[in-house]
Amino acid sequence: MNHPKWVKHKELIKWVEETAALTKPDNIEWVDGSQEENDRLCQQLVDGGTFIKLNEQKRPGSYAAFSDPSDVARVEDRTYICSRRKSDAGPTNNWIDPNEMKNTLGKLYDGCMKGRTMYVIPFSMGPIGSPISHIGVEITDSAYVVVNMRIMTRMGKKVLDVLGSEGEFVKCLHSVGAPLEKGQKDVPWPCNKEKYIVHFPEERSIMSFGSGYGGNALLGKKCFALRIASTMARDEGWLAEHMLILGVESPEKEKTYVAAAFPSACGKTNFAMLIPPKEMEGWKVSTIGDDIAWIKKDKEGNMRAINPEAGWFGVAPGTNDSSNPNAMASIEKNSIFTNCALTEDGDVWWEGKTKEPPANLTTWQGEKFDPNSGKPAAHPNARFTAPASQCPSIDPKWEDPEGVPIKAFIFGGRRSTAVPLVYQSVNWNFGVYMAATMGSEMTAAAAGTIGKVRRDPFAMLPFMGYHMGDYFNHWLQIGRELPNPPRIFGVNWFRTDENGKFIWPGFGENMRVLKWIVQRVRGEAFALESPLGWMPCHKDLDWRGLENFTEEEFHDLMTVDREVWKEELLGHEELFSKLYDRLPKEFLFMRELLRSSLWRSPKRWGMEPERF
Ligand code: GTP
Ligand code: SPV
Ligand code: MN
Repeated sequence: MNHPKWVKHKELIKWVEETAALTKPDNIEWVDGSQEENDRLCQQLVDGGTFIKLNEQKRPGSYAAFSDPSDVARVEDRTYICSRRKSDAGPTNNWIDPNEMKNTLGKLYDGCMKGRTMYVIPFSMGPIGSPISHIGVEITDSAYVVVNMRIMTRMGKKVLDVLGSEGEFVKCLHSVGAPLEKGQKDVPWPCNKEKYIVHFPEERSIMSFGSGYGGNALLGKKCFALRIASTMARDEGWLAEHMLILGVESPEKEKTYVAAAFPSACGKTNFAMLIPPKEMEGWKVSTIGDDIAWIKKDKEGNMRAINPEAGWFGVAPGTNDSSNPNAMASIEKNSIFTNCALTEDGDVWWEGKTKEPPANLTTWQGEKFDPNSGKPAAHPNARFTAPASQCPSIDPKWEDPEGVPIKAFIFGGRRSTAVPLVYQSVNWNFGVYMAATMGSEMTAAAAGTIGKVRRDPFAMLPFMGYHMGDYFNHWLQIGRELPNPPRIFGVNWFRTDENGKFIWPGFGENMRVLKWIVQRVRGEAFALESPLGWMPCHKDLDWRGLENFTEEEFHDLMTVDREVWKEELLGHEELFSKLYDRLPKEFLFMRELLRSSLWRSPKRWGMEPERF
């Protein structure tokens, strides 16, 4: 086989040739990452009906794609961690013996690329050459994946130049699983009913079959940067997390970086790009990442974080000029929209983009939109793929190979009850406990019962590459090794009143909470002791511009109700009994400590004096 001269890595060439022999594509293309290549592939996707070119005046360089209705989100029940020992995958992951799995996959991959082109994509997760970055190579039979990976990662020839002839890389094999017989016409979104998203942690390799959507197919993202990387991080003493990274600048121009873990579709993108209310003059937020953080310890004992990605793969519905102007600016051009609705003038639309839907919309399923049908125009998990460099709030250090020093970790789920707006853990270990027992009400980003609370430790439940109990221990160990570990906070933007309405206005107003967090880190803000840790009183938050949000409403957000927490502790126990064999011993004591502090406090702990 002939390969381009710039491909020098023998093991890589061998893997590509072996894969081609198995999957039997018509051609092999090494992806170089050039503009010409991208233009050609986009045109090819338009010609094949996968892409619709959007109006060049309204949205230059952008395309819409519509997936098969059976392929719209990650498939957690088809996701496997195939470690050699079942006990290493742990009870929160699906497991099958790696040899058995390879046998099954071998049959599925045999001839699966017939009639298609096999693309080889070298990519770097993180700035090329950074000591925190790692390299992967994705083999795929989907041009849609290639053009998305070009936005989401640094990819192409320049990565192979760094990899050289011996460098280490993660093998990422992807196929939509839809071979074409001679003369058979392709469909706009090829995929297979049978799906497998498989990880081999000891080998550090990934095999994905049957899906073309998001995290199932863009293998640098969840498969590599979280599932495989979490295993690497365990072995090497660092962290690979489902976290956004942002910088906060005070009016005195002091900069503090924080990382926050919220489950899928719980507001990471919005929080990462937050615009403070104008009354909070001088406070600024800048964006490093919106989904994944890789964090390594430096010589001084700082936790240095990079965003391994180069783009946003963000939830479209709900994004608009007031909820997230920075995301709206990021997607003005050079973006890909998957499962959004189309307007008659060749632009995209989704629920919440404007108050009223424009006339004559075409839904993501290609039908004329009927606002009275009860069916949305865009799929609830419709997403945009956009270059991070187009984000107006992007931090000047977002590509700094050294990463940025993280001073606080924030954890938050979607909780209509129980969890207050904000609280600070009294120490690292209790913060780890809190993050480990985090619960969240389910969203459309994953298959499951929408609205039901599930324990989602560290927002990592679907993304853990090994035993969840070992992961908790890893976090405890990291804390022991740090001279001055980052402070840990919990937040909840989603508490509702008796009518089911969100009490907290959220979005830009979250700056008030973020300011308190940053000031706590810097030793500049007060707090009250609560059964859960430390909390701000009403007077401790900056209310300029939100004076009509009453002190009472604030107290409603901050109450800790013992009856509700009884249930909550049962939830912790349920998780612990699942993980019993590798659960940190400390956790049982911490649970008892939490129980006793709840019982020592008033039944309904609150900040109003009459409740004490
Ligand atoms: P993944 O990309 O799936 O990992 O998720 P993400 O955490 O980046 O999700 P994203 O920011 O796109 O979350 C979008 C959803 O969160 C939408 O339904 C928003 O309306 C909602 N949301 C975001 N921020 C807030 C907030 O401050 N308050 C409330 N109530 N909802 C919010
Ligand atoms: C998530 O579900 O957390 C995502 C989207 O960020 S996907 O990449 O499809 O997993
Ligand atoms: Mn995510």
